[in-house]
Amino acid sequence: MGYNTKIGTDIELAATFLSENDIVAIPTETVYGLAANALNELAVSKVFAAKKRPLYNPLIVHIKGIDEIEKYALEVPDLAYKLFEAFAPGPLTVILPKKDIVPDITTAGKQNVALRIPNHPLSLALLELLDFPLAAPSANPFGYISPTCADHVYKQLGDKIPYILDGGPCQNGLESTVIGFKGTEPFLHRLGALGIDEIKKIIPNIQFETHDNTAPLSPGMLKQHYSPNTKLIISNEINKILSENFGKKIGIISLSKEYPIESQNLVILSQNADLNEAAQKLYAALHYMDALNLDLILTEPMPNIGIGMAMNDRLERAASKFNQ
Ligand code: TXA
Ligand code: MG
Repeated sequence: MGYNTKIGTDIELAATFLSENDIVAIPTETVYGLAANALNELAVSKVFAAKKRPLYNPLIVHIKGIDEIEKYALEVPDLAYKLFEAFAPGPLTVILPKKDIVPDITTAGKQNVALRIPNHPLSLALLELLDFPLAAPSANPFGYISPTCADHVYKQLGDKIPYILDGGPCQNGLESTVIGFKGTEPFLHRLGALGIDEIKKIIPNIQFETHDNTAPLSPGMLKQHYSPNTKLIISNEINKILSENFGKKIGIISLSKEYPIESQNLVILSQNADLNEAAQKLYAALHYMDALNLDLILTEPMPNIGIGMAMNDRLERAASKFNQ
């Protein structure tokens, strides 16, 4: 589309673009978002177009504080408030019945709106300058790996947007945890940066929503998503795969282990096997590997605890298009 994309920290410039119904990439603590005025159909349609995102996939609406929830949500269960009070601003998204002020395109025709208060100083300051909330999906082409720094956004969507607000590398590095309600019954739509153990402090018996690819309630639950272009295999037997594929160009993403390959083809996510550090670096490792023109990317399954559960969820979806 031919924008001469600028990258910077000017929230007033970002606010000007957004007020003119243009789209701007914004930093959050999870991943970068591709933001537009959530209340304006034209602005939101540009987000879908730039991402090539199917119109059935609703967007998260980012607000500046808890006192804004009822501007956009019709009914708010007590538990929703408890969650926001415990974790906002932070990597939590809650799906609630929407008010008419939120246009159908933002929620993909659903009667529910997903609300989140992002925990990033630049984006919170930007929201303070605006008199509308920001609809923002992750700032990647549909199905590809989410961006965790301004450079990832620039490489993927560079000419399609006028401005990237650069807030540095994302602190958490995985998308927000999404919680919805069936009546007053809460359930988990999407694992994410807010660990299940944290949520259980508020909702001890939280239920998982199961995958359904035919009618995705929350298309972040689509089986194939978050994928690199290079074939990705998750395995506990990386050394065996290495010897079976001698001569191929192979990259490895490991939690903390060394492997006998060229050092530029190995990313160790955390020397101390710290899962939070590993989660923060995971998408950057996938972006890096995908740019190396390898035949194969190998990764270990992560310990299935805490944030490791969300990492495994993303890795499985990223690998799933290569499993058939
Ligand atoms: O951390 C995040 O959540 C990032 C940052 C930018 O805030 N955003 C993000 O957006 O990951 P996106 O569009 O990539 O994923 C949003 C997820 C999708 O699975 C979408 O289907 C679901 O939330 N979602 C949004 N609105 C919904 C709604 N009204 N009902 C059900 N699911 C919804
Ligand atoms: Mg996304």
